[in-house]
Amino acid sequence: MRVLLGVCGGIAAYKAAELVRLLRAADHDVRCALTRGAESFVTPLTLEVLSGYRVYRQEYLNPNDSGEELHVEAARWAELLCVAPATAHTLGKLALGLADDFLTTTALGFEGPVLVAPAMHSTMWMQPAVQANAQTLRERGVSVLGPSIGALASGDTGVGRLVDLGVLVREVDRFRSTGELAGKRVLVTAGPTREALDPVRFLSNRSSGRMGFALAAEAVRRGADVQLVAGPVELPTPRGVERCDVVSAAEMRVAVEERAAAADLIVMAAAVGDLRPGKTSARKLKKSELGGELALARTADILAGLAESAPDAVRVGFAAETENLEAEAIRKLEQKQAQFIVANDVSRADIGFGQSDNEVTVFRSGAEPVHVPKASKPAIARAVFDLVVPAVLARGGATKRAAR
Ligand code: CTP
Repeated sequence: MRVLLGVCGGIAAYKAAELVRLLRAADHDVRCALTRGAESFVTPLTLEVLSGYRVYRQEYLNPNDSGEELHVEAARWAELLCVAPATAHTLGKLALGLADDFLTTTALGFEGPVLVAPAMHSTMWMQPAVQANAQTLRERGVSVLGPSIGALASGDTGVGRLVDLGVLVREVDRFRSTGELAGKRVLVTAGPTREALDPVRFLSNRSSGRMGFALAAEAVRRGADVQLVAGPVELPTPRGVERCDVVSAAEMRVAVEERAAAADLIVMAAAVGDLRPGKTSARKLKKSELGGELALARTADILAGLAESAPDAVRVGFAAETENLEAEAIRKLEQKQAQFIVANDVSRADIGFGQSDNEVTVFRSGAEPVHVPKASKPAIARAVFDLVVPAVLARGGATKRAAR
């Protein structure tokens, strides 16, 4: 995989040389971008020799010989941006979208996955501002790895060490395209729906869309042709995904039905609204007109309908429950005729809706459920695909492809 390694100016920058060597030994193609601060800790020449590429330095924003700006070229070249070590300052710039040097300018132009491995003194890492920046990045789908606990350069012991390089290389490996779903079409839905009462009011739910977006990115990593039907969410489209934005459950149903027949795998991660106002007013209603009660109507169940419109596709549903998780998941597996139901407990504040982590149990028709312990949503997406992919491959695709 083509990895752009961003190195920032902290003492852990000395480890970047070894990291480049390990990444290359793991068969990655590595280019390095050094911040000005990093050059005080590690020389460009060291990384140039180890990577086999000229190092991008702070001042390299100018066009190259072919007229292409180097930060644009670097962003196009890379399949993964890995910032290690990431300093508090660079984390802040990435969170804010600032672009005052080569690395951060390239990061803004980069559409692929980003992995950051912070390293700094514990007091810095624990600052609310730094924690908030790391959290902002997580919420946008950036993988934040570490820091780990141990001896720090200051002589203190605490949280702040750059994560072990072997762990970091294994994490980079996880972004490598596997290609096992090459030629397969995957349809993912994500986010909430909004059911309008009038032009300003709507019924909706707390889904952030992050789980669905992570699933779409994971399907791309596995080589699939991926379509994402997204409700109203503020998330960047993962690289390689074809996205269709919708608002209401009815719009989502149309968008899904249009794409479902050609799909080998359909993952309904969207929190589709079950109810909509009985009537939608074209003008803003006065509170005097609203009365004390709202007439509601049921929306159609998209997943259940797919059993008929996409019978050959492997169909995966989600179940967000606050009680009786197992019984409810099994009921949905049967009622919606899905092959998998991924269930999570939304009564917990630390996972699920709006959080960057999740913890799920995957219920399967004809097999025992599998519990996936708490992890980032991209990690949960990997675990879900590990379970689902064999079912997709077992179904083959000869008839489906002929029909396309
Ligand atoms: N779903 C759907 N269409 C709907 C509602 C839900 O396709 N109108 C899908 C969701 O995308 C999810 C699964 O069905 O994959 C489970 O959704 P959930 O709302 O938990 O199920 P409900 O059928 O609404 O069950 P209940 O309200 O009884 O818990």
